[in-house]
Amino acid sequence: MQIEGGKVSHWQELEQKYFMSTVERLPVTLVRGQGARVWDEDGREYLDFVGGWAVTSLGHCHPAVVEAVTEQVRTLIQVSNQFYSIPQIHLAELLVQNSCLDKVFFSNSGVEANEGAVKLARRYGKHYLDGAYEVITTTNSFHGRTLAMVAASGQPKFQQPYLPLPAGFINVEYNNIEAIKTATTGQTCAVMLEPIQGEGGVNLPDDNYLAAVRAWCDQTGILLILDEIQTGLGRTGTLFAYEQYEFEPDIMTLAKGLASGIPIGAILAKERASVFVPGEHGSTYGGNPLACAAGYATLKFIIDNDIAGNARRVGQYLTAGLERLKQKLQFITDVRGRGLLVALEFSGDIAQSVVMACLNRGLLVNRLKPNALRFMPPHIIGFDEVDEELGILDEALSTFVS
Ligand SMILES: Cc1ncc(COP(=O)(O)O)c(C=O)c1O
Repeated sequence: MQIEGGKVSHWQELEQKYFMSTVERLPVTLVRGQGARVWDEDGREYLDFVGGWAVTSLGHCHPAVVEAVTEQVRTLIQVSNQFYSIPQIHLAELLVQNSCLDKVFFSNSGVEANEGAVKLARRYGKHYLDGAYEVITTTNSFHGRTLAMVAASGQPKFQQPYLPLPAGFINVEYNNIEAIKTATTGQTCAVMLEPIQGEGGVNLPDDNYLAAVRAWCDQTGILLILDEIQTGLGRTGTLFAYEQYEFEPDIMTLAKGLASGIPIGAILAKERASVFVPGEHGSTYGGNPLACAAGYATLKFIIDNDIAGNARRVGQYLTAGLERLKQKLQFITDVRGRGLLVALEFSGDIAQSVVMACLNRGLLVNRLKPNALRFMPPHIIGFDEVDEELGILDEALSTFVS
């Protein structure tokens, strides 16, 4: 795979020589980013609707993040979690003040946050539910790549290469409350869900599904873990997606957009579910001053500037533009999403070719499935950037009209 007029670069050859092959990379070496734009080693500019995989909430190298990180890197980068750390406490306070949760634990990534959330639910099960330990998750969910989270993610393609998987996870049909009820036993300690399934296809919950899951958890006493790693921090038009579905989780996990590119993850929990005691969970780097300074700067900017509102408005504009393309091009079969998490589905398996056609025209988009694209740009993008994206996409898609 090669970009039009491009060459296989030195870096691509070295990557093949030295790197484990876990991803089919696109033939571009990115060296610089600013806002919603990135540049490759030859100076070509791209409009970035992948956003570091739904990470760069404030865009690349946002001044608020750069300043906070620069200041922190000069002051203190790492301390052991045995000591109090001010950036960590600041970020925890801001998260609690702006969510329905009461307590925070920081990790380094999304999958670690989810692992910790499941450990927390198991501790809760030991304390309050007669040792219950099983977690019910849904088909097409994605919770990360550790063995346990592969077991949690209801997607056989991620599970098959690693069988046997850790016990304690039951994958049931998404959007089917009866399936959750049927799977619940005396061993169940929690249900774990994404409010909108991201990697699994940008799948929206049916009306009342999440409220019904909440009601079932209340009725049975089991916990509701909400994975907002992809949907959180304003991406779907509110700071957290649960706000739009009018329910509250007992445990919530965050990562991706929390520090706009600096690695961080977080477990948030209601007071009653916050049952870890010293020594039961930990992380060397989790919540270190550098990551928390970046997280605080990001979250503060998102809140103070109503970036979630921007994602809602610009997201509606993006969806309306994609709907117009759907009217024009018969092979577009669906547009779905919330805010700036949007999928475009085709009648055939052309997504990879469309990704390449966009790349050649200076636009980065994600191949969600063989027949679908996903758009997950920074939450700060404006209408002009959406117009530009729609123009390039229109041109790229028109090459597929037979
Ligand atoms: C909903 C969700 N949960 C968990 C993860 C895993 O996060 P990380 O890659 O930071 O471990 C992802 C990553 O795409 C995700 O979208």
